[in-house]
Amino acid sequence: MTRIATQRTPAALETSGAAAVRRDIVAGLTRAQKSLPCSYFYDARGSALFEEICLQPEYYPTRVETAILVAHAPEIAARTAPGSILVELGSGSSRKTELLLEALPALAAYAPIDVSASALDEACTRLAARFPALRLLPTVGDFTDPLALPAALAKRPRLGFFPGSTIGNFAPDEACALLGSLARTLGAGSRLVVGVDLVKDPGHLVAAYNDAAGVTALFNLNLLVRLNREMGATFEVARFAHSAVYNEHEQRIEMYLVSLDDQSVEITGRDIRFAKGERIHTENSYKYTVAQFQALASRAGWHGHQVWTDPDNLFSVHELGPA
Ligand code: TRP
Repeated sequence: MTRIATQRTPAALETSGAAAVRRDIVAGLTRAQKSLPCSYFYDARGSALFEEICLQPEYYPTRVETAILVAHAPEIAARTAPGSILVELGSGSSRKTELLLEALPALAAYAPIDVSASALDEACTRLAARFPALRLLPTVGDFTDPLALPAALAKRPRLGFFPGSTIGNFAPDEACALLGSLARTLGAGSRLVVGVDLVKDPGHLVAAYNDAAGVTALFNLNLLVRLNREMGATFEVARFAHSAVYNEHEQRIEMYLVSLDDQSVEITGRDIRFAKGERIHTENSYKYTVAQFQALASRAGWHGHQVWTDPDNLFSVHELGPA
């Protein structure tokens, strides 16, 4: 059996990384508009709940993006040189990646990056069995940190893969900065396949982030469960509720945890007070038109080579490359 050496940041860095996350959390909870960092969603339970969100009937992005990738993987593959490296940002279960891997020529490596070690381990175990010849280079970490690939692979052509409309979880300026830094780290001549959710009727959007089975609610509330476990916080999870609203002006879904009572919670020795109805902001999911996203990508230094959408115009997949 192949052993997969998961790259981890050195222990000291990991500790200071964790300390920085804790500082961010406390800072977010002590602001006038309380907030939590969205990468904190993805512990083992959060990653598993996210996979369940992807199966909900209301959550169209996964199904629609998958269908687009099934239809166009051969075209993406035809433009990919053998011996390339596939780098994926926020790879989670790597389910959509399998569609690309089936179509792509022999790669030098697949380098998935994810904050969830459990999601990466599961995905790599599955991929190692399915693609025994594929070299796997998983990295546990935040994909907004600088990418580090083994020096031996420095000269290989790169194909970046950034599905799931994760780019929409950044404000447009941050998204532009991230795409720009990806252009630099992936290197000259690289291409990037990115999935982007499209602007549509608000009712349709809100339903996708508020499924009837309540899985998205559990996923959002899991942030509080995690704070209790990892930071000794005293959230009474039943006294908070999930809320998703569409902000038409900003073109984004906003996710909140709403306090159902006046209450106070302790975290790292601080007392955090909540008024009844007060909200913790937990996530944004920006929506674009095809033209808006193409403009953003070109501001970041990418050229839009291809864009594919579904017949109902729900979702888009952009293939970006050098001008
Ligand atoms: N990238 C996904 C999206 O914006 C992430 C996501 C889906 C999400 N559902 C969520 C994030 C619920 C927080 C809460 O669609």
